[in-house]
Amino acid sequence: MKQSLIAVAAWAAAASVQAQDAGQINIICSVQAEWCNMIQTVYARTTGVKVNMSLKGSGEALAQLIAERANPKTDIWFGGTGDPHLQAAENGLSLEYKSAALPQLHAWAQQQAAQSSYKTVGIYSGPLGFGYNTELLAKKKLPIPRSWADLLNPVYKGEVQVANPASSGTAYTMVATLVQLMGEDKAFDYMKHVHKNINQYTRSGTAPIKAVARGETAVSISFIHDAPQEKMQGFPVETTTPSEGTGAEIGSMSIIKGARNLANAKKFYDWALTPQAQQFGAATKQYQLPSNKSTPVDPNVPDFKKIKLINYDYAKYGASAERKRLIGKWEKDVNSLPR
Ligand code: F6P
Repeated sequence: MKQSLIAVAAWAAAASVQAQDAGQINIICSVQAEWCNMIQTVYARTTGVKVNMSLKGSGEALAQLIAERANPKTDIWFGGTGDPHLQAAENGLSLEYKSAALPQLHAWAQQQAAQSSYKTVGIYSGPLGFGYNTELLAKKKLPIPRSWADLLNPVYKGEVQVANPASSGTAYTMVATLVQLMGEDKAFDYMKHVHKNINQYTRSGTAPIKAVARGETAVSISFIHDAPQEKMQGFPVETTTPSEGTGAEIGSMSIIKGARNLANAKKFYDWALTPQAQQFGAATKQYQLPSNKSTPVDPNVPDFKKIKLINYDYAKYGASAERKRLIGKWEKDVNSLPR
């Protein structure tokens, strides 16, 4: 970790250029703030390009891109779960681009590109699971959740937190995972029952693991790669992945159709696929699996081989109509129920 930070800093220093009029780029960034800020600073310093960055969850980013379709203000959408990136591609919001770096990427990242006709690409992957606060569980004498079925246990009433799938790609990944695992009817029955144990549906997908860390909730449904950074800050957080199986996201990146700074968008895109740029994830304590096969994998990155993963159908659940339908159904059948 320390070494990767040093390597990254050395590379940034070596590549540093004098400020020059290299134009600008407008980025919507859907990873955590530290990574976005690092990219903003380093990219501006090393290229002279002015980087305007706005931070948005995956669902919110898509909503903004739809809203500004007639007059796009965004050049690049960096990060966030892959399903809304696929929806953006299908809706003609993003631009086809084949980076020369594509062959350097893992098969799952290339597949994400191919199935969108090269309108998006995988930049990282990470599995969905549960976060829990070890001290709170011990204090309340609650068991560690190890399966989706465990979350139905009434002992967890008011103890579980997850995001809202309309704004959060993490939560949409949960909905799509459950539908694939159980079949749609059973999955919605399941979510209606778990609803009784949920204390809050947050806007952002990472809020629940932060709430676990700070002892505001005992359990969260989260991407498990977001836990180590909380643990490193001294919080009593651990994770498990459900024994029945779970889904993983393919965090993605897209160039926006109608980008005003297209040449810069393409340069940024190529850069973001390099091992050097991808190290900024782990350097800012974010532990998704990077998509470039040559990016060093930090030991904190979850070991996919130890997790029972479903064969997630990214094309089907990233399709516009399906995503809209499932989110609408969740609002109507689950979120509207009393708790
Ligand atoms: O940045 C952390 C992260 O978990 C990413 O891996 C993921 O793509 C993103 O957050 C999803 O955020 P949200 O659920 O808010 O859309």
